[in-house]
Amino acid sequence: MSENPTQKAFRDLPISAFDNLDEPVRVWDSNLRIVLANRAASDEQGAPISRMFDRLSSDSVLDEGQETEMSLVRKTFEEGIRQNTQINGIDANGDRWVTEIRTKPLIHESGGVSYVVATFLDRSAEKRLERQLIQSSKLVSIGELSTGIAHEIRNPLAGIRLGLDALDPVVSDDSDASEILTDITRDIARLDRVVSELLNFAKPKPHQPELFDVGKMFRQVSRFIRGIANKSRIRLKIQVEPEDLQVCADPYQIQQVVLNLTLNAIQAMEEGGKLTLEARRSENVNWSTSRDNPSGYRIIVRDTGTGIPEELMHRLFDPFFTTKQSGTGLGLTTSLSIVGKHSGELRINSTPDVGTTAQILLPEVEN
Ligand SMILES: Nc1ncnc2c1ncn2[C@@H]1O[C@H](COP(=O)(O)OP(=O)(O)OP(=O)(O)O)[C@@H](O)[C@H]1O
Ligand SMILES: [Mg+2]
Repeated sequence: MSENPTQKAFRDLPISAFDNLDEPVRVWDSNLRIVLANRAASDEQGAPISRMFDRLSSDSVLDEGQETEMSLVRKTFEEGIRQNTQINGIDANGDRWVTEIRTKPLIHESGGVSYVVATFLDRSAEKRLERQLIQSSKLVSIGELSTGIAHEIRNPLAGIRLGLDALDPVVSDDSDASEILTDITRDIARLDRVVSELLNFAKPKPHQPELFDVGKMFRQVSRFIRGIANKSRIRLKIQVEPEDLQVCADPYQIQQVVLNLTLNAIQAMEEGGKLTLEARRSENVNWSTSRDNPSGYRIIVRDTGTGIPEELMHRLFDPFFTTKQSGTGLGLTTSLSIVGKHSGELRINSTPDVGTTAQILLPEVEN
């Protein structure tokens, strides 16, 4: 009986060592078949090795990750040199995962490539930390600047408003002038909103944590937004597990964050869509920095809106970054600051044309 590819690989390769590696490793032969995989590689697939062989050897449809892996392996066979690339996606929670695939050719005596070894490195935590660091450094500088500027703007603004009030009766007979006056007043109101948000961000009220019912808070938010949501034909779904989930945090501040995220979601679904508010406790929230307690709460706002192009992702939390005509661009900046004060994390992940998932992660607080 002729030897099958796995038997041949077992004979050719010193395999016992890598079966115990933490990193998933797979070995491919030149027919682009997996001939070996260590335990981690089969765990990663969630299937026993034997079944994986069947799956990857057959012509079954490959997912994007497998497709990428296979083309990287093919390139390694062709070029005879190491390759690497990253793949990423968003898991069921809304967390982004990033995996680096590296390949290495095994050259046989005649000089050709006999096998290609592919290893997988989980880069998710690193990426999360990177984003977190960028976010916090921006917040510090804006915090220092904004209070001063906000006051500089607010005082003359109050003067202008008084002046306009005085003019009002004078121009009341002139409809053109009245109209201009109305426009100016509206613009001033907008400036005032920017300034208030800026001050609010720079000097948020001290937060007063208490146990509150997340479901109730969601229902309160849904009352606020019902009108606009209906107008845009947005279906709202609330999912809290367990139904009476309690979280210890400042209820008003967290509600403000949820409202900001919800408004962003609605504004991204002008053509209608589905808005989901979810909350649950999670055994492991994959904190960006290592913590004693890996568990926490996830409060999630999902939409099926326009999504956010990758090249804008790193600007989301920048103060004044907005793509909207009447946006202040402070919604997310303020939200990040509030969540940070709760020792939590604010994560936003998005797929253009599919939608966006925003997550507030809060630590468990002992009281
Ligand atoms: N759910 C979302 N879907 C698509 N884009 C989003 C979403 N959330 C945020 N964005 C993008 O991020 C930008 C910044 O959001 P942020 O809430 O900080 O400000 P804004 O919504 O533009 O203004 P404001 O919140 O002051 O009304 C938005 O202008 C938008 O481009
Ligand atoms: Mg907003």
